[in-house]
Amino acid sequence: MRLPGTFDTIPTLTGDGIRLRAPRQDDLAGLVRAFSDDRVRRFMPVPPDYTAAHAQSFIDTAPDMWRGQRAVFVLADEASDTFIGEAELLSVNELYQSAEIAFLLDAPARRLRTAVAGLRLVCRFGFEQLGLTRIEAFADFENSPVHYAGLRAGFRHEGTARGKLSGPDGQRRDAVVAAVLPEDLQSP
Ligand SMILES: CC(C)(COP(=O)(O)OP(=O)(O)OC[C@H]1O[C@@H](n2cnc3c(N)ncnc32)[C@H](O)[C@@H]1OP(=O)(O)O)[C@@H](O)C(=O)NCCC(=O)NCCS
Repeated sequence: MRLPGTFDTIPTLTGDGIRLRAPRQDDLAGLVRAFSDDRVRRFMPVPPDYTAAHAQSFIDTAPDMWRGQRAVFVLADEASDTFIGEAELLSVNELYQSAEIAFLLDAPARRLRTAVAGLRLVCRFGFEQLGLTRIEAFADFENSPVHYAGLRAGFRHEGTARGKLSGPDGQRRDAVVAAVLPEDLQSP
């Protein structure tokens, strides 16, 4: 198993029209738009007033996050290299060779079947380069798109994590537990 903190630079990976790469300065406007999106604010733990300062900090501190064992990427369109989303593997657990995935697409990049390709690319990185044997996802029961996209990418639903998530109103919310193992990625 290889921990994110052992990478000298944030790696770049491409496949199925997607690029995973380090965040950079020209992603700033896209990051602000994507993290201010209603569905992202509803379903992900982001600051309610996500500003350019938050995005700048994300760009500047991404290498530190890797050193903190959190593999953070920007998702870009492979042809244009422009920002289309953000993805990360967090809670990397060396003992269990597992991690959790977080994933979002900028609204203009949704409904294009991009999510499945992006999820699979992040998971391939986790299995092939980090040596993970299990990647978990925790999603709100009402977040239908991520359930559909996750199942198509190879995740399987395993149960309920009670009170795992914090809703925008601060209330604890149950999550669907889903996970993908290396063999689940074999078939498209
Ligand atoms: C989750 C997310 C990445 C999925 O990306 P997407 O581009 O919307 O996904 P897709 O277009 O591949 O859609 C997946 C499926 O959900 C369906 N779907 C998409 N948006 C939907 C919506 N608003 N309501 C109901 N179904 C929807 C699609 O029809 C598709 O079903 P199909 O494969 O049977 O056709 C994206 O919606 C997103 O960034 N959401 C906000 C952040 C977030 O919730 N991240 C996950 C936190 S756990």
